[in-house]
Amino acid sequence: MKMRQLGSTGLQVSELGFGAGSIGSPDLPACHVEHLLKVALDSGITLFDTAPSYGLSESRLGAFLGSMRREIVLATKVGYGVPGVVDWTFESVAAGVQKALDTMQTDYLDVVLLHSCPLETLQRGDVIQALLECKQKGHVRAIGYSGENEARDYALAGGWLDVLETSINVFDQAFLGDGMQQVHAQGIGILAKRPLGNGVWRFPNCPAGFHAEAYWHRMLAMGPPPQLTWPDLALRFVLSYPAVSSALVGTANPEHLLENVKQAEAGVLADELRESICRQFAACDQGWQGLI
Ligand SMILES: NC(=O)c1ccc[n+]([C@@H]2O[C@H](COP(=O)([O-])OP(=O)(O)OC[C@H]3O[C@@H](n4cnc5c(N)ncnc54)[C@H](OP(=O)(O)O)[C@@H]3O)[C@@H](O)[C@H]2O)c1
Repeated sequence: MKMRQLGSTGLQVSELGFGAGSIGSPDLPACHVEHLLKVALDSGITLFDTAPSYGLSESRLGAFLGSMRREIVLATKVGYGVPGVVDWTFESVAAGVQKALDTMQTDYLDVVLLHSCPLETLQRGDVIQALLECKQKGHVRAIGYSGENEARDYALAGGWLDVLETSINVFDQAFLGDGMQQVHAQGIGILAKRPLGNGVWRFPNCPAGFHAEAYWHRMLAMGPPPQLTWPDLALRFVLSYPAVSSALVGTANPEHLLENVKQAEAGVLADELRESICRQFAACDQGWQGLI
């Protein structure tokens, strides 16, 4: 597994990260989750991305990682979900960090992100201040924002981010280009969420109501890729950008995880193919925004 620097944070991460939204469902047996996480670790994955809204994800990660804790990079998100505390306040961020520390049975968190709050919340400033104080106290190594579009751009302009998590995939290219290069040049670590475009090629018909339905329509508009197939190139497309530190793929299936490892090992796409996929997107782009 290839490793990449996470911006200027001093952290190194595996280029294939584990999107731990996939292990939150209580319907997924604990033994299955343990096996999946073991396959991830054995494959060399060192970055795990979770959130309090991902069901049992944080507690399962905490229970599993145990003695491995210091060898992995743990990223979570805050701003909501602390009993008795109003969401998206200074207190909700400070208490959210403490709750994550307790839930994941650790004394520090590597990365903590504000979880897709709207622009107006960021503009108030209190949630950012709370996160900065958590970092000053040493509870958190790197801080940032997870989200899209206007709110993401506002967060980036504030100069406080160590890490940005945002949607990057063949069907979601709004962040690619000069903007991303500038962010990278500032030393901000970039994590790609939804890197497979939620694998929408799996649906023969429109997956109405699916949280990535919009990608299915974009895929249809774009037509097939000039070479290979979407499943054969989607992950490699994202990893072709050196500015991306890690692609956070979500899967509950160990075989899919191993397939993704194989895809990452196949290496980056040739510039010509990557550029033609960008042109394909640009030709159909109807102001397509990043999907939260
Ligand atoms: N606002 C936010 O902060 C936010 C929002 C979205 C995502 N994220 C982060 O990004 C991570 C990934 O996002 P995501 O799960 O929405 O999107 P994704 O990684 O693009 O796609 C995940 C989907 O692809 C399938 N899949 C994975 N590998 C596959 C393979 N080799 N073959 C076929 N299907 C495959 C998974 O199903 P199987 O389980 O069947 O493999 C799952 O349904 C999340 O876990 C989370 O960490 C953050």
